[in-house]
Amino acid sequence: MYKKYFSFLHKVDQSTHESALVDKYEDSNHLIELRHVEKTYHTDAGDFTALRGVDLQVNAGEFLAIIGKSGSGKSTILNMITGVDRPTAGEVVINGTAVHKMQENQMAVWRGRNIGIVFQFFQLLPTLSVLENIMLPMDFCNTYRPNERQERAMSLLKMVEMTGQANKLPTELSGGQQQRVAIVRALANDPPIIVADEPTGNLDSKTADAVFSLFDELVGRGKTILMVTHDSDIERRVGRSITVADGEIVNQTGDYKIFNQASTVGGNPS
Ligand SMILES: Nc1ncnc2c1ncn2[C@@H]1O[C@H](COP(=O)(O)OP(=O)(O)OP(=O)(O)O)[C@@H](O)[C@H]1O
Ligand SMILES: [Mg+2]
Repeated sequence: MYKKYFSFLHKVDQSTHESALVDKYEDSNHLIELRHVEKTYHTDAGDFTALRGVDLQVNAGEFLAIIGKSGSGKSTILNMITGVDRPTAGEVVINGTAVHKMQENQMAVWRGRNIGIVFQFFQLLPTLSVLENIMLPMDFCNTYRPNERQERAMSLLKMVEMTGQANKLPTELSGGQQQRVAIVRALANDPPIIVADEPTGNLDSKTADAVFSLFDELVGRGKTILMVTHDSDIERRVGRSITVADGEIVNQTGDYKIFNQASTVGGNPS
């Protein structure tokens, strides 16, 4: 039902995605690559190792589900990919960029342009309207001309049939509506990668299904999606799933698609 709006996502100045930041790793053949990633948290109660040598490759255009018990390390893996947290050892390479080496001041803008993040509890800013929430990533990363941002935000809202709610506050929306806003906010800068941490965890099954369909259509338009989920239905419907247990990937199912390396960050296949 959202299909007719997706062509809009490709009207992007792709040059804005390629910033001359950081170390380039020319030897990675994948859009996302984790190499022997370890993460140890140092707490008052002692050290806790949350990731124990995670190796993961994701190609452009994949829809990957990440499953596993509570505390197994799923969110920690996503945090390594988004650069929200850094590995204790190992490497995180995204489209040839060494994320684990990036300076803090470079990280936020790089993330804002390359990765859209969707959370379980939506995390919309409560004092901003729906429209302002969606414009915020464009303002922050200075993508699109200021006079284009509102129009783009409205087009994104149209995609999820929510233009009528543009001026409402997030608290005035249902859970499903808030999550739809959060998803289109993640699309604001047209990032090639979407990372979602249990995005349907707080939705009823019908709303969860609609939200999943939205993600599915985004994959159809060339986005690469990593989604943590407890929903076994969703797990069956994605291309590939990995199971995490005690900080390790213990199982992989599904298709490991080999895509042409031309499909890289900022260069979505159409
Ligand atoms: N900042 C932190 N400091 C110390 N320990 C942490 C920290 N963040 C996570 N951990 C620990 O690391 C382990 C993995 O946490 P993580 O949040 O990745 O689990 P998860 O698989 O996402 O679980 P859930 O399904 O409950 O969200 C857990 O045991 C957690 O307690
Ligand atoms: Mg988690």
